[in-house]
Amino acid sequence: MEKPAIAGGTPVRNTKLYYGHQFIDEADVKAVEAVLTSDYLTCGPKVVELEKRLCELTGAKYAVAVSNGTAALHIAAMAAGVGDGDELITTPITFAASANCALYCGGRPVFADIDPNTYNIDPECVREKITDRTKAVVAVDFTGQAVPLDALLDICHDRKITLIEDGAHSIGTKYKGKPVGSIADMTTFSFHPVKTVTGGEGGAVLTNREDLYEKLLLYRSHGITKEEAFYVNESHGPWYHEQIDLGYNYRITDIQCALILSQMDKLAQFAGRRRAIVERYNNAFLQIPQLFVQQEIPESDTTRHLYILRIRPELLTIDRKGFFEAMAAENICCNVHYIPVYWHPYYQKLGYKKGICPNAEKLYEEMMSLPIYYSLTDQDVDDVIMAVRKIVEYYKK
Ligand SMILES: Cc1ncc(COP(=O)(O)O)c(C=O)c1O
Repeated sequence: MEKPAIAGGTPVRNTKLYYGHQFIDEADVKAVEAVLTSDYLTCGPKVVELEKRLCELTGAKYAVAVSNGTAALHIAAMAAGVGDGDELITTPITFAASANCALYCGGRPVFADIDPNTYNIDPECVREKITDRTKAVVAVDFTGQAVPLDALLDICHDRKITLIEDGAHSIGTKYKGKPVGSIADMTTFSFHPVKTVTGGEGGAVLTNREDLYEKLLLYRSHGITKEEAFYVNESHGPWYHEQIDLGYNYRITDIQCALILSQMDKLAQFAGRRRAIVERYNNAFLQIPQLFVQQEIPESDTTRHLYILRIRPELLTIDRKGFFEAMAAENICCNVHYIPVYWHPYYQKLGYKKGICPNAEKLYEEMMSLPIYYSLTDQDVDDVIMAVRKIVEYYKK
């Protein structure tokens, strides 16, 4: 077996650092405990409270809290009307769920390339991929930076296409001063533990449109309604409800909502620390010619979820895999976000060919995600920087 790359000497750290970790305090524990001894574990007041809080945070008119970010994307694609044979355009540099939501609906994901500097989907590439079958665009705020919402809204609304912003990375981010969640037709969030705010699992869809909101409520819970205005038949009595569409059980528990609410109390704190970490990394890495630093998007006031270290392999004697292994040998455990979605065997079997999004594929070959989370200390961040410097010095051409 090939030996993993190491930059020699003793490791920069003697304990391991991981790329992400949740932060849970006493207030979070108390909030969850209070729900456990209350009357409602699900479908209760904490769900309503979370939805209200998300509307307050984002300025959106409506929020529908669901079991996870994938469920949020699924019901958003359904509400956008994606059906058999319809196309949904998204980026390949994302978690598979951003594309899978089209497949769940019988539609086909179409991949548009990214901007090589910001790594977000490129609106011009979206424009090129639009056909008569395009029903929706899922634009991902990759690493937390807002996509070019103005340009995407222009492109979509000219052609009656629904813009879904996948904000799994971007809760707390603002675009041109407005919080994400209130700008696209629908915005989805994820509350997975590596995200800025967590509920263990959890998700939400935000929208300003009442017609979409009504559909989202139905799809979250089996397509069943208790709203008399929507009944097809006459009510049989106070217990009456009707299934008027086909939905799922994508409900979130009050336990999760209580945790998310308590975490949201700390969002400004979380966001501030993440920003400070990005600044510390950027200041160090901008001095190193063997690295490329992700462009900060001036329109985006960003709550950063991921920090991408991108190497320039032409200036080094190791590739990304070697660099990643060398970081692990320094006890810095990185990750890679993401393998281009259409490279996965499932997508290859569906007939997607490699090479369709060259900027995304090049980025994939050169990137890794460095540790970034609230409780990372300045010393931890400096250790990461020291490890990166050490490896670059050892392997530079
Ligand atoms: C960009 C993106 N979209 C969607 C999801 C899916 O969210 P969840 O894990 O909550 O289902 C994730 C989570 O990993 C994500 O990073």
